[in-house]
Amino acid sequence: MTKSHIQQGILDAVPAHANYLTFSLLAGADCRKALLQLAPLIDGKRVVLGVGLGTAHALDRQIAQLRDFPVIAGAKVELPVNKAALWCWLREAERGVLVAQVQRVIAALSGAFELTSCVDAFRFDMGRDLTGYEDGTENPQDQAAIDTAIVHQTGAGLDGGSFVAVQQWQHQWHNFRAMSRERQDNAVGRRMDDNEELENAPESAHVKRTAQENFEPEAFVVRRSMPWSCGTQSGLYFAAFGHSFDAFEAQLTRMAGAEDGIVDALFGFSQPLTGSYFWCPPMQDGKVDLSALLN
Ligand code: HEM
Repeated sequence: MTKSHIQQGILDAVPAHANYLTFSLLAGADCRKALLQLAPLIDGKRVVLGVGLGTAHALDRQIAQLRDFPVIAGAKVELPVNKAALWCWLREAERGVLVAQVQRVIAALSGAFELTSCVDAFRFDMGRDLTGYEDGTENPQDQAAIDTAIVHQTGAGLDGGSFVAVQQWQHQWHNFRAMSRERQDNAVGRRMDDNEELENAPESAHVKRTAQENFEPEAFVVRRSMPWSCGTQSGLYFAAFGHSFDAFEAQLTRMAGAEDGIVDALFGFSQPLTGSYFWCPPMQDGKVDLSALLN
């Protein structure tokens, strides 16, 4: 497996503009034909593809590790689950170019996959959440990012692939603004001003809940989340890539208070609206490799 087998957009920095398209599968539709129509648009860099369990099932295929977004037993907060069939992350420098790409992808899939959600996202500053906190600081870099996010030693058609967990979080601005800066910093566990980690952050602080090296086994993910907005609503489109879903699931379980009853303080000003899992196929000779699904 080399870097050429990886959908490059997974490893690259987040783009200036993006769109997250989610599709359901129409009953009795020819999804093989639609995927073949879509394939030329998937360069892995400007368009990253994720395939849901429903599509693998419709093709009578199993992708090891691919499953539905979990219901977390003992969760103290609501964690919506969506069984989406397909996901495309469109990534562009220009918003105008993005609009045309969205139309191309939807047209390629029409007749088999129905658009269920279209979320406009963008980079804020050098990669901040809309609250102003820097997001992505503790992401693994370079080879560590590849080791964390990319599947290897599982065979052709799978090596170079990845698994992505996505959740659209909506911020409750009224709640966030009602908090003092000290309470906001305590909720995240870092100072907004200089991004320094707080030494005495409470157990509910987000970075304490999710500290990747504090899990057994360690739970590293590559986060590529982006702010989104639609009219007066806004938040973070959270996306975490891994060589399986296990690390994300361990983090979410702890955030939800399912282990010790302590809920991540983020839930005080933000809630997930969705939750889905997808398999991101590898690349082969510059094209998306769908052999595990179609051959
Ligand atoms: C509204 C939603 C969220 C916001 C605004 C948010 C924001 C942040 C911020 C500001 C940081 C600190 C800087 C950094 O290392 O990136 C962080 C860290 C982190 N977040 Fe989130 N996050 C959100 C949801 C999630 C979810 C759902 C998960 C996983 C289930 C998660 C996993 C992590 C991890 C693993 C870290 C790094 C922890 C460490 O090892 O220090 N985040 N997040």
